[in-house]
Amino acid sequence: YLKQYNLKLSNLTPICIDHHFCTSNIHLCSQPRHHHGFKTEPQFSEKYFPQTVDHFNFNSMGNGTFNQRYLITEEFWIKGYGPIFFYTGNEGDIWDFASNSGFITELAAQLRALVIFAEHRYYGRSLPFDKDSFSIPQIGLLTVEQALADYAVMIRELKQQLAATDCPVIVFGGSYGGMLSAYMRLKYPNMVAGALAASAPVLSTAGLGDSGQFFRDVTADFESVASECRDAVRGGFHQLKELARHQDYSHIQSEFSLCKPPSSAQDIQQLNGLLRNAFTLMSATNTLSVLFTLIRIVYNSTGLLPCFDLYSLYVKCADPTGCGLGLDSLAWDYQACTEIDLCYESNNVTDMFPPMAFTETDRQLYCAKRWGVVPRPNWLKTQFWGDALSTASNIIFSNGDLDPWANGGVRKSLSSSLVALNISGGAHHLDLRGSNDADPESVLSARKTEAELITQWVKMERSRLQRSL
Ligand SMILES: *[C@@H]1O[C@H](CO)[C@@H](O)[C@H](O)[C@H]1NC(C)=O
Ligand SMILES: *[C@@H]1O[C@H](CO)[C@@H](O)[C@H](O)[C@H]1NC(C)=O
Ligand SMILES: *[C@@H]1O[C@H](CO)[C@@H](O)[C@H](O)[C@H]1NC(C)=O
Ligand SMILES: *[C@@H]1O[C@H](CO)[C@@H](O)[C@H](O)[C@H]1NC(C)=O
Repeated sequence: YLKQYNLKLSNLTPICIDHHFCTSNIHLCSQPRHHHGFKTEPQFSEKYFPQTVDHFNFNSMGNGTFNQRYLITEEFWIKGYGPIFFYTGNEGDIWDFASNSGFITELAAQLRALVIFAEHRYYGRSLPFDKDSFSIPQIGLLTVEQALADYAVMIRELKQQLAATDCPVIVFGGSYGGMLSAYMRLKYPNMVAGALAASAPVLSTAGLGDSGQFFRDVTADFESVASECRDAVRGGFHQLKELARHQDYSHIQSEFSLCKPPSSAQDIQQLNGLLRNAFTLMSATNTLSVLFTLIRIVYNSTGLLPCFDLYSLYVKCADPTGCGLGLDSLAWDYQACTEIDLCYESNNVTDMFPPMAFTETDRQLYCAKRWGVVPRPNWLKTQFWGDALSTASNIIFSNGDLDPWANGGVRKSLSSSLVALNISGGAHHLDLRGSNDADPESVLSARKTEAELITQWVKMERSRLQRSL
């Protein structure tokens, strides 16, 4: 689960440091808010945009609209002249992204840009059918295409309203949001001069790459911290398997402070899934007690849980890296059942986790049952070009090499304007975060390159717009 991964890590800060949990990749954990230079925390106004409900079928909803939330600040902007920085919101509340993307506002202060963070339909408060949004067939208008069209319509309309029609637009996004920003440049180059796609797994989510990559890379992260980690974790899962084989369920319950003893193979699979998910959320220590330490840190960071309930802390869905909890998780599950392919598996050979398969067939069965849909594994690579991106331009694909999502994205530059940046020691879209005293050299240098390219794109777009006048 792309977003949760990012946010959980920042929640965990103090625990990480106290326990020396992430000693060698401390950047993953440390988020002290020591800003320097100009003021970087702008005041966003929260607004709603009357958005077309269905961009592609004129009969289904007619000209019906819903309220799409966005955040805007003109604090840095040279009115009518400065560029527009537009964040293509991803799977969650837009405030979460705005408050974790300080780089965008820092760059806006330098380039005197208008900043807009737009919320993705079906997430946060942008629900086209309110509480009914997650019913069938109302959920059907949740597609990547509709979301991109929302952003395009919003950009055009807000430019009119703000007398900004000649202002170059640059889109930004992290994770799934990074995929969306890259797609905006592919699909709407008429409106968008360039895209910063941070940690965007555009390839793996289009079914390109191998299904073992993700959990292999999670394993490699832990191994890089402590080489004995892999065997220790594997040993822990093995012990768990043995206890389960002997149906020593009360032992398992007490080891893991479970609310109820497990009583079936399904409960054990659920526990395995919950444990694997804790590692996923914390990719960056010996036996069952290691596993237990980890679930305490990940699932009990509030210190409020008397015991762990297997089925409420982790919900199995069409994304084996977790869908999170709450309404946003329903929307993400639907997306993973339709366009976004997340058939990642662990196998206990190339990774340290118990074998948990998730094939296209498993996905199909689950999705038919849950949402009444059949996934289209080839659609994303048709619609958004897959790995045949070389005729695109002005996109930065940045990735931190500690991020298990990284190798699902573009790691090599494809041309002088399709630039892959590797942030060594970097976690999931570290570059989008505000500058911080603990930033490694690699992320400073990535942000510098990003700023230079974006400055250049803004100039190019300005002269293009002037030539066309
Ligand atoms: C939608 O179309 C109807 C019929 O033409 C019109 O009366 C109404 O004002 C339109 N609504 C919006 C939001 O444009
Ligand atoms: C959660 O944390 C609190 C506070 O540290 C602790 O008292 C409680 O036992 C923990 N719950 C579990 C299930 O470990
Ligand atoms: C992982 O593989 C090892 C070696 O083959 C085996 O002993 C162990 O039981 C396996 N662990 C799980 C959880 O299946
Ligand atoms: C990223 O940088 C690290 C450290 O310099 C290096 O080990 C790794 O191979 C690089 N990855 C890519 C894709 O360039």
